[in-house]
Amino acid sequence: MDKLVVTGGQPLTGSLPVGGSKNTALPLMAAALLADGTTTLTNIPALRDVYTFANVLRVSGASVSFDESAHQLRVDARRIDHPEAPYDLVKKMRASFYMLGALVGRCGQARVSLPGGCAWGPRPVDLHLEGMKAFGASIELDQGYVVASTPNGRLQGGSFRMEPSSVGATINLLLGAVTAQGGSRIENAAQEPDVVAFGETLKQMGAQIDGLGTRTIEVQGVDALEPVSVRNTPDRIEMGTFMVAALLAGEPGVPFRVKNGHHPHLGAAFKKHVADTGATVVYEDDVVTITPPDRIRPTSIATATYPGFPTDLQAQWGVLMAHADGTTRITDTIYDDRFKHIPELQRMGLDASVKGDTATIHGPTDFKAATVMSTDLRASVSLVLAGMVAEGTTDVLRVYHLDRGYENLEQKLQQAGIDIHREQYDEFSEPERVAERTA
Ligand code: EPZ
Repeated sequence: MDKLVVTGGQPLTGSLPVGGSKNTALPLMAAALLADGTTTLTNIPALRDVYTFANVLRVSGASVSFDESAHQLRVDARRIDHPEAPYDLVKKMRASFYMLGALVGRCGQARVSLPGGCAWGPRPVDLHLEGMKAFGASIELDQGYVVASTPNGRLQGGSFRMEPSSVGATINLLLGAVTAQGGSRIENAAQEPDVVAFGETLKQMGAQIDGLGTRTIEVQGVDALEPVSVRNTPDRIEMGTFMVAALLAGEPGVPFRVKNGHHPHLGAAFKKHVADTGATVVYEDDVVTITPPDRIRPTSIATATYPGFPTDLQAQWGVLMAHADGTTRITDTIYDDRFKHIPELQRMGLDASVKGDTATIHGPTDFKAATVMSTDLRASVSLVLAGMVAEGTTDVLRVYHLDRGYENLEQKLQQAGIDIHREQYDEFSEPERVAERTA
């Protein structure tokens, strides 16, 4: 198993490049299944989740080729003859559940494993299923699988209001509705940039969609969609992570650049809170220049759906607030139990408490190095950030979580001056003293 070994105290200098978006790449790969031909996707990050989704597509009959060095992925979906997404793959990655909408949209039927549990609490898919039913699908559960069928090989269309607003349910319903016999309406739809970029690609493929980026999306079903070549958007969460890294480990008063991102996708709330820390930020086309203040000002946040503060950046923000002069509150209104990183950060000296959906953080904290355990994607990167400013050398274990969403993170950080490298370790080895005293 891999771990990252981070020795703190080196300032982050120069710049960091942002790669393609994971959370846009996955629905784009699902959309490719809707077209009887070969779809080409560029700026696709070489991430574990992309490899998993490629295998999910292959099980359904698609051929997938991925040139990692060119970040170009091709999906040949001419022959989709096995409308199923197996548990062995879906259990690795919830977004595999997008196969429900993609297979119903393409084949009029689907057998897709339910995603199962998640590190930070219940993440049901009831809105996906209720929405499919509202659009005319029959839904049954069979041995942990959702079995969806349609009257004559296509959804009818219909109207569905989701509460709460869900990124995944919006994507799944769009995948089904674009080839429905009639029209569909999604109310309280997700407005996240990933959803909009995905929807715009469906329109490029020939779909008829209005209202992307608003709470009400209208779709008029069409008979077939065409394959396209499309460029994936930059990863807004990686971009936000790098901006937080600059505030945390950059040199006060020294500009740091985050390159190749698309800053409007950060959302107004995140930008406001970054400014509230006392940072100076210049937003230009695909470059953000951020200059850390002498002291980080305490800035409490509450996550929300886009354009609110992204829940995928709250763990990173918590580490930054540990460096602030004072007490801050981090409230996650999307997931009420996404604080698995806090006990690990407390091993590094964090002074914090968690109550319900809120973590209270007392700064400033001088982190001390320790061995810490990753529990999920964004929690793991927050541990790397803490290690970058800790006194001593921190081992961040189980970084397979991090590899799901950050491409070549240690190489990128090394190029920006951070002392970090990857090592293998044996998760199940016993301490030496045990071996010595085992007869
Ligand atoms: C997407 O997950 C992202 N994943 C998540 O990022 C992100 O945290 C989340 O949106 C919120 O922004 C991908 O894009 C692959 P939701 P998703 O459905 O679609 C509840 C990362 O780190 N809900 O918008 O699963 C749900 O429990 C990942 O990259 C229902 O109640 O999120 C949650 O409280 C982690 N019933 C809320 O809605 C449903 O049927 C929002 O979830 C569906 C969702």
